[in-house]
Amino acid sequence: MKYLIDTANLEMITKCNDLLPIAGVTSNPSIIKKEGKIDFFAHFRKIRQIIGSEKAIHIQILAQDSEGIIREAHKILDNVDKNVYIKVPVTPQGLKAVQLLKKENIGVTATAIYNKTQGFLAMEAGADFIAPYYNRMENLDIDAADTVASFANMINAYGYETQIIAASFKNMAQVNTALACGAQLVTMAPDILLSALAVPSIKKAVDDFDDDWKKIFGNSSICDMK
Ligand code: E4P
Repeated sequence: MKYLIDTANLEMITKCNDLLPIAGVTSNPSIIKKEGKIDFFAHFRKIRQIIGSEKAIHIQILAQDSEGIIREAHKILDNVDKNVYIKVPVTPQGLKAVQLLKKENIGVTATAIYNKTQGFLAMEAGADFIAPYYNRMENLDIDAADTVASFANMINAYGYETQIIAASFKNMAQVNTALACGAQLVTMAPDILLSALAVPSIKKAVDDFDDDWKKIFGNSSICDMK
């Protein structure tokens, strides 16, 4: 089970990387738009600096034809680093690009997945990761949990090396269901993840423990105990 954060915000990445056991950072052009007109490659090199070489960065291409996708993928790999996973939407041209990128041994995340067929074809094409769009599927009245479970079943049944990186979440209930259905990884906006730790009862419990301790030991801490 791995958690990634779906953001390009350097402050948030620094904070989450410091506090939480995150496995990497994902983004797409709409997420990048939130940061304004950034120095694109320098920005992702900075993200690499923050999270280090062991964690994953997934960057999406924009071209819609396979040749353009391959060109953009190389440009990203040359200007950020060779370990970046290239996010490719699962279209016919995208599937062609996934197969070509895998022939070059480039890491690929097949994205914009709204149905089972897209995911199955991306597995067949050799994608390292498939990114089903959980909330967007639910908005379309597609059973997102069943879709993720089908991907997990096929991976197990046929021994694909592809992993599911479920994406597009609006709340932690969706995230936890995706994990229960077999997604090995999940990516979400940091606020969604942090919201699970910001439940008022948690703070109250911690404050109550502190009050009870102080009633007996005053301001002496555990480190002051002999
Ligand atoms: C994954 O990386 C996707 O691009 C992302 O999760 C989409 O999320 P959205 O549906 O909130 O735009």
